Amino acid sequence: MTSPLSIGQPRPRRNRRSPALREMLAETRLHPARLVAPLFLKADNGPSEDIDSLPGQRRLNATDLTRECEALLKAGVRSAALFPCTPAGLKNDTGTESLNPDNLLNTTVRCLKKEFPDLVLFADAALDPYTTHGHDGVLDAAGDVDNDRTVEILARMAVRQAEAGVDYVAPSDMMDGRVKAIRAALDETGHHQTGLLAYSAKFASAYYGPFRDAVGSATAKGYLDKRTYQLNGANTREALHDALLDETEGADILMVKPAGVYLDILCELRRRTLLPLAAYQVSGEYAQIHAAARQGWMDLHAAMTESLLAIHRAGADLIFTYFAKAAAQLIQS
Ligand code: PBG
Repeated sequence: MTSPLSIGQPRPRRNRRSPALREMLAETRLHPARLVAPLFLKADNGPSEDIDSLPGQRRLNATDLTRECEALLKAGVRSAALFPCTPAGLKNDTGTESLNPDNLLNTTVRCLKKEFPDLVLFADAALDPYTTHGHDGVLDAAGDVDNDRTVEILARMAVRQAEAGVDYVAPSDMMDGRVKAIRAALDETGHHQTGLLAYSAKFASAYYGPFRDAVGSATAKGYLDKRTYQLNGANTREALHDALLDETEGADILMVKPAGVYLDILCELRRRTLLPLAAYQVSGEYAQIHAAARQGWMDLHAAMTESLLAIHRAGADLIFTYFAKAAAQLIQS
């Protein structure tokens, strides 16, 4: 008996019958070169330290950092974003260590550029790793972040990072006018080739929790309130407006962050800019997948791949992710 469906029934499943067909018809594909590995730097020469809230990630000492970069390149990952863990003794209210040409970040950049000239390096321009209060800028008398004083410091910090040899300075602070000021400072000092990746639509998010643990910027443990400068998760238009200002001010790449809970913003921004787009799958996104996998509630590799594919599909050319090495190795295998 032929079933009533058998004649002329559209059958999309035909195209999904075998691995070869599924592979042939895949609309989005992850490539290791699209992944950027965030790496945490440890100051002294002691042993590297595990980060409890980011399974598999460590604060790396110099030797382990070299090994990690070798492993990344071997897996096909071409770029890393560096985050220094500044010793408490070097932090103060105004984050002056950020301007030290020989601080942990700048010294590390110089070493890595010698060892791995082809590894693309991103450095955050923001004050939070250097301030005792953990905010991304200096505070005014009322305790809010002082926009213009902060921007001045960021521009000087960016020049130091460019001198050290970073490929992209990445302001992650969300101050007004910082892209313009940093671009001008870089150009005035002859760093025309240093790029600017702007954390353009960066939302105030609980998903940054494990990162703040990792770099030790979580003085107010759990949730440090950055809502006077980071975006409100309720707002699409405001996010697009702020992101497009960064384009006008001279950014080379725009970023949406976090990625997974803001895919709609990514998708919308993709339609409105011709610039490359990056998305940051942040620490909390990584941690929640690991936590569920540890309980046996989700498959780690499948969830990792699916989450990254979604970010790419929504419009990200580049994905900052703590899964970079693992995902690249899986793609290669
Ligand atoms: C700081 C900065 C943060 C992250 C990257 N740069 C945290 C914050 O804004 O508080 C978060 C990254 C992550 O959670 O993985 N400017």
